[in-house]
Amino acid sequence: MMHSIERMSSFNRSVSFKQRAANTRKSWVARLFRALIAVGSLVSFFLAIGCGYLYVLPNLTHAFHDHEFIFSNSNDTTNTCDIFDGNWVLDDSYPLYNASECPFVEQGFNCLANGRVDEDYLKWRWKPKNCDIPRVNVQHALETFRNKRVAFVGDSMSRTQWESLICLLMTGVEDKNSVYEVNGNMITKQIRFLGVRFSSFNFTIEFYRSVFLVQHNWAPKNVPKRVRSTLKLDKLDDISKEWIDSDVLIFNSGQWWVPGKLFRMGCYFQVGKSLRLGMSIATAFRTALRTWASWVDNVINPEKTRIFFRTFEPSHWRNLTLRECNVTKFPLSEIEGQDFSPFSETVFDVVNNMIVPVTVVHITPMSAFRSDAHVGTWSDRPSLSDCSHWCLPGVPDIWNEILLSYLLTNKEDTFE
Ligand SMILES: *[C@@H]1O[C@H](CO)[C@@H](O)[C@H](O)[C@H]1NC(C)=O
Ligand SMILES: *[C@@H]1O[C@H](CO)[C@@H](O)[C@H](O)[C@H]1NC(C)=O
Ligand SMILES: *[C@@H]1O[C@H](CO)[C@@H](O)[C@H](O)[C@H]1NC(C)=O
Ligand SMILES: *[C@@H]1O[C@H](CO)[C@@H](O)[C@H](O)[C@H]1NC(C)=O
Ligand SMILES: *[C@@H]1O[C@H](CO)[C@@H](O)[C@H](O)[C@H]1NC(C)=O
Repeated sequence: MMHSIERMSSFNRSVSFKQRAANTRKSWVARLFRALIAVGSLVSFFLAIGCGYLYVLPNLTHAFHDHEFIFSNSNDTTNTCDIFDGNWVLDDSYPLYNASECPFVEQGFNCLANGRVDEDYLKWRWKPKNCDIPRVNVQHALETFRNKRVAFVGDSMSRTQWESLICLLMTGVEDKNSVYEVNGNMITKQIRFLGVRFSSFNFTIEFYRSVFLVQHNWAPKNVPKRVRSTLKLDKLDDISKEWIDSDVLIFNSGQWWVPGKLFRMGCYFQVGKSLRLGMSIATAFRTALRTWASWVDNVINPEKTRIFFRTFEPSHWRNLTLRECNVTKFPLSEIEGQDFSPFSETVFDVVNNMIVPVTVVHITPMSAFRSDAHVGTWSDRPSLSDCSHWCLPGVPDIWNEILLSYLLTNKEDTFE
């Protein structure tokens, strides 16, 4: 088991994506993906015992009580319109697609198909105070992505956004069969790679599951018994090799940085060869993000690749311990603290010190209003209410409208 993982990573290291000829790339990549999926599934299966995987556990409040944060000054005065400062307005032209007609919405997120009957939650548009987010022009978006590679990297929240973007774009594609997953894979919760190809437009929209962004390995030898696995905070995830020559990269991380998915599962932090048993989650998250940042600064060519980091997704649990929640019929009119996340602040802090420009898509405050938009019991596990994940269509579509507004409207951008 361990052997196959190690061989895999040295195999990865020996090949540089940038040097390879384009024509050998495709079959090599396909082989690597098949291998990665096989290894990835095994790794997920075993590590699942160590780091929990099915649900985003709602114990976020415990994550930061042992650490003080130094917050960045996030007043960016260069923009005349802060698109993240606004409110939700009813708009009957929403939703942007029908999930039952899009094969890339996983069952667990299709709330209407899972029995939700109220439909108001589908009708909200985000309205920034001093401007409007341009309505997505799907044909323009499809043309802009022609010959390109877009990759989402992160956890299940990233997968939702990936599904949403595909469905949004598919509304503009006549032959739905021309859009397919490159390995014929089904969407599952543990899968490491999914790539959907829009063959008429020669682009793919990919998803890489990397919930911590850094490497997750079995514990080294001679460590205390409770340590079953470690996160190597100074090493970016092995599959990061695959992200390098994308045209657009959208990252997220945060939901897995909680004691219930780390310490209580025997997963601790490691830097270099040394185990850091006392390190707080907040410090570890910051360390991991700095590793990510230096990877971006060293490896990414900003002339080619446009980088986004989407901030933390707020949840709406009534009682965290009991995992109870009520999905409301309407968005909240007042938010009580969910608009603020130490994870999001850390993202701003780290990004502010980078060389390669990174656009932070700060969806935390806007999504905080949307207690009406979670999957609740209309998921694939109706016995457990879920106020972390979101229905599709829904809030992740709005994240994508914002993403597309950056990609499609700004003429000076490298991304055309
Ligand atoms: C941002 O600006 C507002 C008003 O201009 C001010 O009240 C607030 O303290 C500023 N925030 C930070 C973090 O500097
Ligand atoms: C979505 O599509 C399904 C299947 O085609 C259809 O039955 C349903 O009425 C549609 N829903 C909406 C809201 O249009
Ligand atoms: C498809 O896109 C790739 C880049 O992603 C490019 O190298 C290739 O030439 C394109 N193929 C066609 C037929 O345009
Ligand atoms: C949640 O439920 C637990 C167990 O019943 C209880 O002890 C706790 O006070 C509840 N928390 C809140 C915020 O209601
Ligand atoms: C929330 O759920 C509880 C039972 O779980 C119910 O008593 C209460 O009325 C619900 N609140 C709302 C606003 O729907």
